[in-house]
Amino acid sequence: MQGYYQFISKDLFNRELFKDVKILKIGGSVITNKDKYRSVNREAIVNIAKVLGDFPEPLILVHGAGSFGHNKSLEFGLDMPGKVRGKEIEISTVINDVLSLNSIISDALAAEGFRGVSLPTHAIYGNNGPDLDIIEEMLRNTFSPIMYGDIIIQNGNYRIISGDEIILDMARKFRPEEIIFATDVDGLYSSDPKEYSNAKFYRDVKASELNIKDKGKDATGSMTGKVEKIKLMLPFTRKVMIVNGMFPERLRKALNDEDTIGTVVH
Ligand code: IPE
Repeated sequence: MQGYYQFISKDLFNRELFKDVKILKIGGSVITNKDKYRSVNREAIVNIAKVLGDFPEPLILVHGAGSFGHNKSLEFGLDMPGKVRGKEIEISTVINDVLSLNSIISDALAAEGFRGVSLPTHAIYGNNGPDLDIIEEMLRNTFSPIMYGDIIIQNGNYRIISGDEIILDMARKFRPEEIIFATDVDGLYSSDPKEYSNAKFYRDVKASELNIKDKGKDATGSMTGKVEKIKLMLPFTRKVMIVNGMFPERLRKALNDEDTIGTVVH
């Protein structure tokens, strides 16, 4: 019983300490050109870095892999988890590619004065999950940890871990005030607006009302998969917001809790 109470009080302590923490996911489709292997969208990266450089609050930043991760993962058949043996070259290629993207992002952020510290996902996820102590220590010292969609190795097996999955792990631990997804669309629609003219845009929606259909496929699942993950995150945060990361002003407003175009999920 004592152990139980210890757990509760530690959890409340963390809640208090990190009560202002926000989590931001920058989608790979914003920072890279998805169809071109290892091609970055430099303008979007610099614009986002400027917004984050001005942002004073603690932040956990997670970015996607885009064309540094999905293309080769699909080509090498790494989208399904499996045994490392026999796939070492392919796995290390993807791990190195996403690390290169992370360096580009970290450099751009540092140039704007953002106090980020990269924590390569494959290096902080051990056999029993993420090393949360390191992340907590960074936050305590006012650094913003930067993680990203990656491949992790656990007990001789590899698997792709998406930025969304990392966020879920971070949300469980840090109970962020808000989780923001910067994507390449304005927010959530009832169906793909490019295919269905009657697609409805959601400004503010309850998770239980969300019923999204799309056919997209990448190495980590598309919008339908994201919505399922968002539903899992909601118990740990006040709100989840989706904004178009191609419009830095919208991202700035979302981070500052100001009204802007996007979807808020409760
Ligand atoms: C994918 O991460 C990681 C790899 C394919 C190695 P994400 O799923 O978070 O990336 P984006 O945002 O879709 O590009």
